[in-house]
Amino acid sequence: MNEPVRLLPQAVRERLSTICFGQRMYYLPEVDSTNRLASELAKQGESEGTVVIADYQRRGRGRLDRKWESPPMKNLLFSVILRPTGAPADILALTLAFSTAISDVLSDMLGQEILVKWPNDVVAGSRKLCGMLAESASRSGKSMFVIMGVGINVNAASEDFNPSIRDTAASCLTLSGEALDRGEVLVNVLSAMESCYFRFREEGFGAFVDVYNDKLSIIGKTVSFTRGETVAKGKVLGVRPDGALMISPPKGKMILLYGEEISVV
Ligand code: BTN
Repeated sequence: MNEPVRLLPQAVRERLSTICFGQRMYYLPEVDSTNRLASELAKQGESEGTVVIADYQRRGRGRLDRKWESPPMKNLLFSVILRPTGAPADILALTLAFSTAISDVLSDMLGQEILVKWPNDVVAGSRKLCGMLAESASRSGKSMFVIMGVGINVNAASEDFNPSIRDTAASCLTLSGEALDRGEVLVNVLSAMESCYFRFREEGFGAFVDVYNDKLSIIGKTVSFTRGETVAKGKVLGVRPDGALMISPPKGKMILLYGEEISVV
């Protein structure tokens, strides 16, 4: 049975052993976007580690102005307020570091290889299991806050996905055949994200770059990407310690990407 049930924030709180992430939590049965609400709360001074979680989003936001659609009560949709002290540009590297943490948790829970796809996806094979959207506000070149939005497909069945993404999306359910307790996934993910964040603050992305490249599903593959008006191609060499994706084009010098959309050719 895969009957949708509400996430119970109290049950999540009781199981959480973090010291920061999720210690304050806002749960909403429905919201426009958890990233939008978290940003509003951050502007009002809400503390680092505060989590906003919803069972349904009317206008879930994806990267590059896309929508993030998710059926009610089946998946995880949440945003974490962060107040990093580094340069705003670090949010690419922070997203990459978090994707390694989330892929570890999902790999352990599913007993399958779960990898990452630059810059913001967690994938099973070529199918997307989780997407992240980092949005930041900065002043005088300093980051005021970052909202790290995370969407994890947990119990969505194949028919729950919009037909346009049915062939490219996966959920824990479609991968394992079993529904998972979303509260348990959330507890495990928040705990892994917290450890990852503390390490990132101390050591930077340099501490994660080898693990990231080991988990990078597109390494060695030829990808296409758009630069200005032109579409270019090249082979993926890996990620640098600043988070940039290194591409070797058929001719000429190495190209560095900092967030452009890429697709495997
Ligand atoms: C992407 O892959 O394009 C990023 C998707 C991010 C979706 C999550 S769901 C929770 C949070 N709130 C949003 O509006 N978006 C993020």
